[in-house]
Amino acid sequence: MPTVRTLQQKAGDEEITMLTAYDAPTAAIVDSAGIDLILVGDSMGNAVLGHDSTLPVTVKEMRSRTAAVARATDDAMVVADMPFLSYGVDEGEAIENCGRMLKEAEANAVKLESGPHTVSLTERLVELGIPVMAHLGLTPQRFNQLGGYFRQGTDEESAGEMLELATAHEDAGAFALVLEHVPSNVAAQITEAVDIPTIGIGAGPDTDGQVLVLNDVFGMSDRSPYFSEQFGDVKGEMEQAVSGFRDAVESGEFPAKEHSYSEDEIDEIY
Ligand code: KIV
Repeated sequence: MPTVRTLQQKAGDEEITMLTAYDAPTAAIVDSAGIDLILVGDSMGNAVLGHDSTLPVTVKEMRSRTAAVARATDDAMVVADMPFLSYGVDEGEAIENCGRMLKEAEANAVKLESGPHTVSLTERLVELGIPVMAHLGLTPQRFNQLGGYFRQGTDEESAGEMLELATAHEDAGAFALVLEHVPSNVAAQITEAVDIPTIGIGAGPDTDGQVLVLNDVFGMSDRSPYFSEQFGDVKGEMEQAVSGFRDAVESGEFPAKEHSYSEDEIDEIY
């Protein structure tokens, strides 16, 4: 499994890969492909739980999904994404929520959507042995405040604030930093300025690695952002499989002889 240290060594030499996964079968596929990190993202709210945003995702749901992913993962580092308000309110509660992701769900690290409020929490978690991945730029848990899922760091002032927060989280001990939906030149400068690996999504080619939401990669999403890429048509394959089953049952082709067993000892049941 890549460790915090090996990831940091990889940065700059080789691209770091991260994908989301929310269940055991897909985690096994992602892991076998040699992806470095599996993020059990709170994007599960939209991707698998049928919500319109990530906000309703609970700690319990995250713990259960993280445990399923961890059970199916042999090599990748598993990162549990901390849900909205599971951190940042009360420090003790945040530590317990994060700690249980490692103790009970067997995550290797947690990710926090970061801001000024997560600097000292990051420091405390790291002190306690909980590796923290920071996340700056578009932080979807703030979409009510941001007014939508817009690009962040688009002027010098906000880009400068992002850089300050990036170094503050590095100093606090974060082992990596996700940069979401920021101009590529801003991501490049932040990557240059910090020693921890940056992993971009909609942040251009100059970060140390890339992350995407698995549903977008699979072609399972009805809508996906312009910076994403569909690398397969899994939805099309699933649709074909389901209509194949329906047609075979309706036509009487399924179940066939090889799918059935008849007990010769049984004559007539009273
Ligand atoms: O929840 C998620 O999937 C994420 C990634 C987009 C980085 O936070």
